[in-house]
Amino acid sequence: MGYTALYRQYRPLGFDQVVGQEHITTTLKNQLIGDRVAHAYLFAGTRGTGKTSTARIFARAVNCLDTQKGNPCNKCEICNLALSGKLMDIIEIDAASNRGVDEIRDLREKVKYPPAEARYRVYIVDEVHMLTAEAFNALLKTLEEPPSHVIFILATTEPHKLPATVLSRCQRFDFKRISVSEITELLQRVVKQADIIIDRGALEVIAVSADGAARDALSLLDKCSTLQQGRLTLDRVVSVLGMANEKLLFGLSAALACRDAAGCITLLNRAIKDGRDTGQLFKDIIYHLRDILIAKVSPSGLSDMSKEKAEHLLMVADKLEVNTLIRAIDVLSEAQAKAKWSAHPGILLEVALVKLCEPSMDSSIEGLIDRISRIESIVLKGKAPKAASGKDKAPAEDVPEPAGADSPEEVQGDCTVKPAARGKSRPHEENKSKPDKQSGATAVESRNTQEDIDLEQITAAWNKVLKHLEKSKKGLFTLLKNSRPTEAKGAALVIGCQALHGIYYDIVNSKENKEALREAIYTVTGSGCEVVVESVDNEQSSLQADMEQECGLYEEAVEIFGSHLVEALEDKDD
Ligand SMILES: Nc1ncnc2c1ncn2[C@@H]1O[C@H](COP(=O)(O)OP(=O)(O)OP(=O)(O)O)[C@@H](O)[C@H]1O
Ligand SMILES: [Mg+2]
Ligand SMILES: [Zn+2]
Repeated sequence: MGYTALYRQYRPLGFDQVVGQEHITTTLKNQLIGDRVAHAYLFAGTRGTGKTSTARIFARAVNCLDTQKGNPCNKCEICNLALSGKLMDIIEIDAASNRGVDEIRDLREKVKYPPAEARYRVYIVDEVHMLTAEAFNALLKTLEEPPSHVIFILATTEPHKLPATVLSRCQRFDFKRISVSEITELLQRVVKQADIIIDRGALEVIAVSADGAARDALSLLDKCSTLQQGRLTLDRVVSVLGMANEKLLFGLSAALACRDAAGCITLLNRAIKDGRDTGQLFKDIIYHLRDILIAKVSPSGLSDMSKEKAEHLLMVADKLEVNTLIRAIDVLSEAQAKAKWSAHPGILLEVALVKLCEPSMDSSIEGLIDRISRIESIVLKGKAPKAASGKDKAPAEDVPEPAGADSPEEVQGDCTVKPAARGKSRPHEENKSKPDKQSGATAVESRNTQEDIDLEQITAAWNKVLKHLEKSKKGLFTLLKNSRPTEAKGAALVIGCQALHGIYYDIVNSKENKEALREAIYTVTGSGCEVVVESVDNEQSSLQADMEQECGLYEEAVEIFGSHLVEALEDKDD
C-alpha cells in the first residue's frame, strides 16, 4: 500500500471535527436537526479550509439513517457506502479537471429520477468557478427548479467568478482562514494519533506557516516528519520548511526598530544565502510584524503563544511605534504583491526594508505619519526611540545578532550594541559643524579630529571583538564585558570599562592583556590601534549616556526633517 498523506488520513468525518468553521457547521447541524435543508449551497473560501470535507459530511448527514445531533453516524449502511465512495447518490464533480460540460449535461438528464439508495441525491461540484459558460447555463436551469430530492453543494475558492444568477440561487457559507491556535490544536490531535513527536515551538511554526489553511498545515507536518527521523525540534522544522526562523525575524525587527538598513540587508542576504524562499520570507516577516503590533495594542492576543515568544514580542514592541508597524506591514504587503510577478522578488524585499529604515525617503502619507509618530515619541518620552539610521551604516557583519543570540541587549532590538555610535555625528554631517555646537563635548570633538581610527566602526563591531576575546582570553573577556570604546585619542583607542576598580583595572591594563585586546580589535575590524583602558564609573557613564542622547536627538531630527531644515541652537545661557 502506498503512503497516504496526513491530510487525507485525517479528513474530518463529522461537523464537530471541522475546526475554525463553527459558524457554518452549527448552522448546517441545526438545519439537519430541524429538517430545513436547502437545495443549493455555495461553500466559498480559502483553499484547504474544509469546504470539500464539510460538503461530504453534509452529504452523508442528510442521508444518514442514524444522525447524531446533526452529525452523520459514519456507521450505518448509507454512511459506510458513502465513506467507501460507493454510494451512487453522492456525486462529486470536479469542474477543474474537465470543466464539467458532459457531467452537467448528464446531471440534467438524471436529476429527474429519484435517488437510487438514499433519501437525497447530492451533487458536490468542486471548483465550480471553472465550469464553462455552457455548463453554467445547464447548471442554472437545474438550480432554478431543483427537484425536492436533489441537493447541490457548489464549492469554490473564487466566488467572485460565479455568475450572479448562480450566486443568488444558493445559500452561501464563507469558510474563513483558520487561526493559528485552532490549527495548532488540530496539529496536536493529529500528531498524537500519528505518533509523531514534535516540540511545541515546532508545531507553532508549522501552524503559522500554514497561513490559515489546515491542509497546508498537515502537508507541512507530513513533509517534516518524512524528511526528519525522530523528534521534530524547532530547528529541524525550520530547516525543512526553509522559512525564516525566529532568530532571523527578531533580528530583522530589531534592525527595523533601530532603522538599521545595513543590518536588515545583511540579515536578509544571510537568509537568502541559506536557501530561504523569498515568498515565505515575506509572509514570515509580515506575520512577525503583525505579532509585534498585537503585542503593542492588545497583549492578551498573545496568550496562545509560548511565554518566551510573547515576552520577546513585548520587548520588541516597546521599541516600535504603532504607526511604524502599520506602515511596515503595508509597505511589505505591497512589495509582496509585486514580488509575485517579479523576476527579482528578493530585491523588492530588500528595497521595502530599506524604505522602512529610511522614512525620509518616503513621501507617502503613511511615511509622513510614521515620521510624525516618531517626533511625537521624541517629544513625549523626551528622547528619541533609539535609532541607528540607515545612513549610519554599520559594516555589514556588525548587525546585531538576531534574537535568541547572545546578549540580551541585542535581543531587544535596542541599538545598545553600538551605543557610542549614537552620540557621534555622521561623517557627511560633520562638515556642517552643527553637532559639535550642540554637544560642545570634548569627546565628540576629539572623535571628529581623528581620521585614522574609525571609532564608529570599532564601536559597531565591539560585540564581535568581545566574542573574539571570549574565545581567546576568557578571563579578560569577563572583565571587559561592560566595556566599550569611548573615544579616539591620537592613534589610541580609549576603552571605557565600567566599575573597574583597583586590581581589575591593573589586570586589564597589563601589557599582555592590552596586546590581546589590540589583536582582537585588529582581527575583527582590521584597525591596528593602540589601546588605552580607562575606568568609567557609573555616574560618568550615565552622564555620557545623557550626552549621547542629546546628540541622538539632533540626529533624529536630521533624519526626520533632513539636515537642511535642522539647526542646533546654542543653550539658552550661551
Ligand atoms: N476546517 C478544517 N478542520 C479540520 N481539517 C481540515 C479543515 N480544513 C481542511 N482540513 C484538512 O485539510 C484537508 C483538505 O480539506 P478540504 O479538501 O476540505 O479543503 P477545501 O477547503 O475543500 O480545499 P480546496 O479549496 O483546495 O478544495 C482535509 O482532509 C483535512 O485534513
Ligand atoms: Mg475542496
Ligand atoms: Zn449514518
